[in-house]
Amino acid sequence: MNDISIESAEPFSRYRDAQLFVGSDITDGAFAEIRDILFAGRGFDLDGYKDRCIKRRIAARIRTLGYRRIEDYIALLESDDVEQEQLLEALTIHVSQFFRNPSTFSVLEEKILPELLRRRRGEGEVKVWSVGCAGGEEPYSIALLFDELCGSNDQVSILGSDVSADILKKARSGIFESHRLVEVPDPVLAQYFSREGVRYRLDARICEKVRFYRHDILQDRPFTRVDLILCRNMLIYFSRQEQERILRALANALAPEGLLVLGRAETMVNESRELFTCVDPVERIYRKRDEVTP
Ligand SMILES: C[S@@+](CC[C@H](N)C(=O)[O-])C[C@H]1O[C@@H](n2cnc3c(N)ncnc32)[C@H](O)[C@@H]1O
Repeated sequence: MNDISIESAEPFSRYRDAQLFVGSDITDGAFAEIRDILFAGRGFDLDGYKDRCIKRRIAARIRTLGYRRIEDYIALLESDDVEQEQLLEALTIHVSQFFRNPSTFSVLEEKILPELLRRRRGEGEVKVWSVGCAGGEEPYSIALLFDELCGSNDQVSILGSDVSADILKKARSGIFESHRLVEVPDPVLAQYFSREGVRYRLDARICEKVRFYRHDILQDRPFTRVDLILCRNMLIYFSRQEQERILRALANALAPEGLLVLGRAETMVNESRELFTCVDPVERIYRKRDEVTP
């Protein structure tokens, strides 16, 4: 009888203790240890991210595992590659949707993409880069728009990059849950997707138009001579200082007069304002200034 009550009390008390573990329980010293382990083991640098966001997510991971003491979790992290990967996954949020913020995609379809096609006519391809592309919904949305605009010719090169290798695997599969497709107009859904049980498969012809790369915007060299960069809903996770550094790197990645689209909650910070002129303040579309040189 006693044994049973001890057994049943144990998970409950563990749950209650674990519940108490929150971001502010992670001291600066413990945070620095976790940062060093991830940097040494995975080459991932936590420094540029907003501290509070990251601490909250580390605490959530620790609660999920049922650990009570940060020291125990750090010991696990130090010795276990798999946990390092799992923590990285827990730190990066991959929420996305096809045609997320549809009005932005309307402006892209009606003004920006036709302008890029006109500019490049006869002179190589239009190059598009989706930074922090998560499951590929964003670069695939661009591929769908180009397919409608200019069919299956090879004037366009679309790159999608993300720091998470796992989410890129999903992106390459071209298979999506239905909640990722709520903004896809019915005729587009019918023409380009086929249903597989509760999920949808994107037409292989569109999938082939996007190439995916694992790329850390804080550390890896950016692509070059890009005509259009979409960097949406990723800057918000970084400190202002890192946002400015990323925006400068993106300006350098753009071809002359190249365009940049940020997320609805994002904007230019500090000196990055001098690198771009604003094309559409509502949709957060910016053009690289002529005088910016790499
Ligand atoms: C919320 S999603 C945004 C997806 C898409 N751009 C959109 O707006 O729907 C943010 C993505 O940024 C990625 N990310 C976070 N840190 C990154 C880094 N240092 N380099 C590249 N990608 C990063 C995450 O893995 C995640 O997939």
